[in-house]
Amino acid sequence: MRVFTTRRIPEEGLTLLQRAGITVTQWTERRNLTDEELVAHCQENDALLFAGGKRIERAFLEQCRHLKVIALLSVGYDNIDVQAAADLGIPVTNTPDVLSDATADIAFLLMLAVSRKVFYMHKRIINGEWKFSDPTANLGISLEGKTLGIWGLGKIGYVMAKRCRDAYGMKIIYNNRSRNEAAEKELGAIPVSFDELLTQSDVISIHTALTPDTKGRFDKAAFDRMKSSAIFINAARGGIHNETDLIAALENGSIWGAGLDVTNPEPMQPGNPLLDMPTVAVLPHIGSATVETRNAMSTIAAQNIIAALQGKKLPNQVN
Ligand code: DGY
Repeated sequence: MRVFTTRRIPEEGLTLLQRAGITVTQWTERRNLTDEELVAHCQENDALLFAGGKRIERAFLEQCRHLKVIALLSVGYDNIDVQAAADLGIPVTNTPDVLSDATADIAFLLMLAVSRKVFYMHKRIINGEWKFSDPTANLGISLEGKTLGIWGLGKIGYVMAKRCRDAYGMKIIYNNRSRNEAAEKELGAIPVSFDELLTQSDVISIHTALTPDTKGRFDKAAFDRMKSSAIFINAARGGIHNETDLIAALENGSIWGAGLDVTNPEPMQPGNPLLDMPTVAVLPHIGSATVETRNAMSTIAAQNIIAALQGKKLPNQVN
């Protein structure tokens, strides 16, 4: 049995596959495969471990109907046409649960970094601008007792809410497709409408999947409803905010700051105006990037592939 991986994958998953007698071919070049290259590799393999690259579309799937599974190295599955895979009978799996803490850490870190302008301060020292101390300069805003609005209160959103409540006594409000009774009971989280989330939050943190419904929801209209002192955090998917509108909202003071672990497109280009703003912090989509988390994700992906190749039930099928 043979598996093709679109990136080098962490050691634990690799070892698990090899111990199961599966031959693993890893794409090691530091560029995305072309469509033709991906099809050619997949035609020689029984399964695909998708760890990054261009979105998988129906045209690819139609040429690779033989694949026994496409195992994603991510919890999000917006990077594949899941419906097309289902239509063609190709199972798709993801890596839930194991990355909630690491991803919430990045959202929390961005919130704190933006509130104290940390990335900008670091840049000022590099630029030789730390000359003397001025009590009225370099001021951030305090998070103590402020209101955190979570958009998408699933597993990652829950951890973010808990961290914020425990660290700063923040009041938690949320907007979600369904009620999260555990969060209401354990964190005192209060369900609100989308508009209430916008108007009442001091920090809004996005933890929802990218879907046709969530795409571009944070646009001019949404930023205009937010407090002028608000911080916008997105550690979910860049497609959820409209970048042009976000830049305008920061420039005209509709909101105070933004922390992004995800951008649209990715990678963000170096000249992007967001990178020069004092109250903005941008990271290169590293929510799940710890040794422990990436190993755990690769293990789950490997377990799904082994199950598929052995004709067993897949633990994490999403379609
Ligand atoms: C995920 O698992 O969805 C992370 O954002 C990495 O893509």
